[in-house]
Amino acid sequence: LTARTPLIAGNWKMNLDHLQAIALVQKLSWSLKDARHDYGDTEVAVFPPFTDLRSVQTLLTADKLSLVLGAQDLSPHESGAYTGDISGAMLEKLGVHYALVGHSERRHGHGESDEVVGAKTLAAHRAGLVPMICVGETAADLAEHGAAAVPLAQLAAAVAQLPRDAEIVVAYEPVWAIGSGQAATPEQAEEVARAIREALRDLRGDDSAAATRILYGGSVTSQNIAAFLKQPNVDGALVGGASLKADEFSRIVQFRK
Ligand code: G3P
Repeated sequence: LTARTPLIAGNWKMNLDHLQAIALVQKLSWSLKDARHDYGDTEVAVFPPFTDLRSVQTLLTADKLSLVLGAQDLSPHESGAYTGDISGAMLEKLGVHYALVGHSERRHGHGESDEVVGAKTLAAHRAGLVPMICVGETAADLAEHGAAAVPLAQLAAAVAQLPRDAEIVVAYEPVWAIGSGQAATPEQAEEVARAIREALRDLRGDDSAAATRILYGGSVTSQNIAAFLKQPNVDGALVGGASLKADEFSRIVQFRK
């Protein structure tokens, strides 16, 4: 049995300027330092907007804080004439470890296709980042195909070009649960997480399937986090709104308490 380190990730989306970001990370680090014994080996990551990354990175390095840095997106290209894009190499240089790819707000709001998500996944890996691949069905998909079909198709497309031994994280975020206050039930999350792990076995082999962390995302709070983490195939959470408040995010990180 492979032990998978629990991972709690905060996706700030388009919130907080760099001064607000510094304030949040400071508050968070204080509350987590106090709580160290209550969250044990849990890995905690924050995904600030691009413009905050440098400030947060400086703070993490200077204060030797154990938060891990993630980016919300990256370019599918390595470098060159791509106005407005940010490359994986630029992010890696800033100490970024994870890059979200395929978040539903980019798939639906920016028309990102499975093909683009696949290219971004590969670009992240090539730059030395760990892609955190977001998959999830809309309410219409759920009604038409059930919960797992769309997430599994998105996953297969995302990893199609990726070497089998490349580390990935998969975040299952049902679109209908994002920002709605209506989270999936722990059983619903487990059902799709289990299907994702089975699919990973076929797509990438047993070792990768056993080692890959699968997160649940969508209206996670300090009230519901523990029930998700009790599910055998749910290894963590990708938290949106509740990651913007230091106290609440810190309570989520201490889900075992
Ligand atoms: O990426 C996290 C996210 O989409 C979930 O957002 O606000 O429902 O926790 P929220």
